[in-house]
Amino acid sequence: MSNLEANAVALGKEYQWFNEVIEARFTRYFQPAADAPDVQDLVPPDHAEGAGPYVDYLKGLADKIPQSDEGPVSHTEQVTAHRLLLLLALAPHLQPATLDVFFTKNTNFDRGFTEFGGLTGKQHGGFLPTGETALFLLAGGDLRRRMFFTGLFEESHFLYTENVLQLSGQKADEPFLSGQLTISNEYLTRFTTGDEFRPRYSSNFPAKHLQTPLEWDDLVLEAPLEAQVLELASWMSSEAIILGKWQMTRLFKPGYRALFHGPPGTGKTLCATLIGKKLGLPVYRIDLSQVVSKYIGETEKNLANLFNIAEHKNWILFFDEADALFGKRTATKDAHDRYANQEVSYLLQRIEDFPSLVILATNLKANIDDAFARRFQSILYFPVPGPLQRLELWENAFGENLPLEAEVDLKQLAREYEISGGDIVNVVRYCALKAAQRVREEHEKRAEEPPPKVIEAIRKIRKRDILEGIRRELRKQGKTV
Ligand SMILES: Nc1ncnc2c1ncn2[C@@H]1O[C@H](COP(=O)(O)OP(=O)(O)OP(=O)(O)O)[C@@H](O)[C@H]1O
Ligand SMILES: [Mg+2]
Repeated sequence: MSNLEANAVALGKEYQWFNEVIEARFTRYFQPAADAPDVQDLVPPDHAEGAGPYVDYLKGLADKIPQSDEGPVSHTEQVTAHRLLLLLALAPHLQPATLDVFFTKNTNFDRGFTEFGGLTGKQHGGFLPTGETALFLLAGGDLRRRMFFTGLFEESHFLYTENVLQLSGQKADEPFLSGQLTISNEYLTRFTTGDEFRPRYSSNFPAKHLQTPLEWDDLVLEAPLEAQVLELASWMSSEAIILGKWQMTRLFKPGYRALFHGPPGTGKTLCATLIGKKLGLPVYRIDLSQVVSKYIGETEKNLANLFNIAEHKNWILFFDEADALFGKRTATKDAHDRYANQEVSYLLQRIEDFPSLVILATNLKANIDDAFARRFQSILYFPVPGPLQRLELWENAFGENLPLEAEVDLKQLAREYEISGGDIVNVVRYCALKAAQRVREEHEKRAEEPPPKVIEAIRKIRKRDILEGIRRELRKQGKTV
């Protein structure tokens, strides 16, 4: 059975029970004299035989909730309450009509019942639950239970720190529980299709998953820099021992913060991507120049969202164009600056607290002040490669698939032209394009297939093209040759 089918079976049973719970709650609340079962006495479905991501999550749930016999609510009831909370948050996605009873009007006042809480959407026609809806469902009019279950909405509760649920959108000075209760996209995916959650870039999620077909051996760095990079990767693999086994959390915060600086095209992004590949962790890139300049209250929420997901999943965060952070902590001129400053301090704080690897990258090396530098465990400078590295880069880039004509002397090119790895890739791209054009023209010129020997000769990379490619790169950077 696929994950999707298994989830559908399990949640089908769950919602039957959920509907009974709602019915029982309404009857007990509005007709206390009627002989309706109490919500706590309705036995939730047993998934012992069930499977799939939703059932797996339920199986782990009891262990996450501390065992305690004190208080008005037993451990079993608490597990049940967590389950109802999940179903309530999922309901607008899976069983929206289930919540329609909450639209029932209070005829005394000709308006909805305050105790149901809830919101109506701008486009969605159904009932959107809030924290208040959840408390009504779990506690009805029982004040002790209501106070107890308020604990389900504390910020530090695992449902929020593990990014399962969110309670958001409260207005200042209004009751906290009037916030909307929503399920995160991550868990919505998990409890429906069951696919691995890979968020795509959006305003909600301003980060892009970085991947590369290249391997560690393709990275060309001078030995000291490579050693520093390896040290960083090895901290990440040893952290569990140092902080866990040796209990060094008093001295060190978990996680590692590194700053990569250096000219464009020197391998900063590539290196971050490869560190992720080596550690088996996904790397997400956030372009800070975009995030910080477009600041409107939303951005902070989106970043918070990103940090929450990343923290929990052990992702590596790669903040590109990090200079957007250095400059802004200056005197404010207008409201926009003030926002940007708020944003920057928020970001710096989250970066400092991030329990996994954060890498910031920038082209500027100046104006990194001491206060800023202190926040990083390492600051790595990526220089324009020297002649030896450039030779290796040229050789790797042409490889075996792009044979060179005899006049090409890569050693000489490497010696003469001080260009970066990124520039070399662009030159090789230009040469490959030129060779492909020659082959195409040869095909067009002849009525039949050209002899392989001819093709072999004309597809060879020409020195002339390489030099022209280099000139084009240098011209782009405002240099002449
Ligand atoms: N040191 C290097 N070793 C191997 N390949 C490199 C190196 N530097 C650059 N390259 C090649 O150039 C491409 C561009 O490099 P990369 O994007 O990592 O540069 P960057 O330092 O992040 O540049 P920017 O500052 O412009 O973001 C890489 O994908 C890789 O193909
Ligand atoms: Mg880059």
